[in-house]
Amino acid sequence: MAGKRTRHLWKATWLGVILLAFAVAGALPSTVAQSSVSCEATYSIVNQWPGGFQGSVLVTNTGSATINGWTITWTFPNGQTITQMWNAAHTQNGANVSAANMSWNAALAAGGSVNPGFLANWNGTNGVPASIALNGTTCTTPGGGTSTFTPTRTNTPTITRTPTATPTGPTSTFTPTPTRTSTPTRTNTPTRTTTPTATSTGTRTPTATNTPPPGTHLENPFVGATWYINPDWAASVNAEADRQGGTLGVTMRKVAQYSTFVWLDTIDAVHGTNGYSRSLAGHLDAALAQGANLIGIVIYDLPNRDCSALASNGELLIANGGSARYKTEYIDVIYNVISQPKYAGLRIVAVIEPDSLPNLVTNLSFAKCQEANGPGGYVENTQYALNKLHPVSNFYAYIDIGHAGWLGWPDNFNNSVNLIANTILGTNAGGNSIDGFISNTANTSVVTEPYMTANQSISGQPVRSADFFQWNQYIDEGTFDAAWKSAMAAKGVKNGMLVDTSRNGWGGCGGSSYVSQQCRPTGPSTSTVLNTFVDASRIDRRPGKGNWCNQNGAGIGARPQANPPDAGGVYQAFVWVKPPGESDGSSSLIPVGPDNPGGKGFDRMCDPTYMGNALNNNKNTNALPDAPVSGRWFSTQFVQLVQNAFPPIQ
Ligand code: BGC
Repeated sequence: MAGKRTRHLWKATWLGVILLAFAVAGALPSTVAQSSVSCEATYSIVNQWPGGFQGSVLVTNTGSATINGWTITWTFPNGQTITQMWNAAHTQNGANVSAANMSWNAALAAGGSVNPGFLANWNGTNGVPASIALNGTTCTTPGGGTSTFTPTRTNTPTITRTPTATPTGPTSTFTPTPTRTSTPTRTNTPTRTTTPTATSTGTRTPTATNTPPPGTHLENPFVGATWYINPDWAASVNAEADRQGGTLGVTMRKVAQYSTFVWLDTIDAVHGTNGYSRSLAGHLDAALAQGANLIGIVIYDLPNRDCSALASNGELLIANGGSARYKTEYIDVIYNVISQPKYAGLRIVAVIEPDSLPNLVTNLSFAKCQEANGPGGYVENTQYALNKLHPVSNFYAYIDIGHAGWLGWPDNFNNSVNLIANTILGTNAGGNSIDGFISNTANTSVVTEPYMTANQSISGQPVRSADFFQWNQYIDEGTFDAAWKSAMAAKGVKNGMLVDTSRNGWGGCGGSSYVSQQCRPTGPSTSTVLNTFVDASRIDRRPGKGNWCNQNGAGIGARPQANPPDAGGVYQAFVWVKPPGESDGSSSLIPVGPDNPGGKGFDRMCDPTYMGNALNNNKNTNALPDAPVSGRWFSTQFVQLVQNAFPPIQ
């Protein structure tokens, strides 16, 4: 995995001031009574079936000022009731519905639109509301006028037709053409003539009222999803289980049941050529065959990739025309695959370019990062990817934001928020071109340090001033991600949060020999000496939070799941992006050849004998020995990850 960098650009004296200023800046705009709202609204019935329908309300701010905080209201004429809404939070009181903004779309710019969608029940007649209001002001319809809306689907047949009414055979004659008479297999296929076109559309059952139609863009794609298991990764896990045997082997087979992301780390990976066992299309087909409706992929091939580290250097360089190749040979090809109608029912969740944009904040001293900060670099190509892929309605984009131990200091945090928000706001769909963010990709930082808080005082000193935290504002991913989420909400950027928990478990004992205690603590230390307290209380047992390569002592973390309650419920999901068992980088130089076909470099952060540098506070790397190049199966590491899993694998 790429270099997870810590840069200590903080100054202790003004930390408190920055934190307070951030808290104010991060507050959501409050709803202001709009005296001069003017708006246009369209109400549509997008789809309808017996007892249920999908509706949409498109409201455009036709005034000249941004509306900060909005509520759309209408009255259903026939007792319809909403069961689910997206892009807004609804309440319904009798026939009266109100749909209020989410935090990420609170600001409705002049000329801008919001488009809440919903599922609802209906009975008898599904009439449309007489009017729609925005913050209490009745909107006009796009064609002018103030009230009525034309229902798009009011005459949809209800349940009067059933499939049993299908014709029993072709009614129109089928005359074999003389030229085909010698191919009898084709003469008896009157397929089309027996297919009644609309006769069976009325049979969708009422269960559909609780399930958005395939392809609907959801607020949280993980809810109610069946996740894809990558059969190739599962095969590696099961092969390891065979090698280990015994109870460890049995446990490993359970790990193979979990969903991991598919890394598209080269152009070949998209095509499934040159050593990759399966193409992107092959994975999507396998997902369909499994009956899954959610697959995670990693878009990871930017030119000058991993510009501050060496272990995950990519195939494209800006200096060699890599920017054009990224667009046409990589992103466009991905688009051509995922936009195929047969995949419309799959929720395709993408982690966008791990460790890229944060490098433009903290690592511009590296020439390769400086170049990536200019034309043809990370910002331009990230925007290209979002512009190309966001229009696919079943595609979900999550931008990588490094982790707390990299961006958690005020300068790093604020500069990253600005750079990343501006990158997103500069795309065609602005703050809506993504679904949110992911932290800790391929890293081992914990979601929560349960036995201390950042500002807790130990003998008069805050926990975050301990050597291990280096005055970082956030001692774990949960607090960092919550702060990131509210900062992005304030910028008008969508902000569903994910965290990679594939290797942040830190259960069990053993592993790292460089920290003062060797087992997972079960409560806070009683020490009154700050560093002793922190080292004996922390779950994260790395010598330094900047350590990122093949960490000795790490375990598999929380299982992939939607809406975990941890960290105050900040997350849409826990995901396993880095497939456990795949190396982060080789522990010594491996020449180009069968063991290193892609020419991956050697980063000394993967060398167990290296005593670190300023980027990890000069701590030992804590990397496991004898590691293969990044992405390759690393048996020793997988054994340890399974043994140290927390919660244990059951
Ligand atoms: C490597 C990729 C690999 C991924 C997942 C990254 O560090 O550079 O080649 O696919 O990890 O293991």
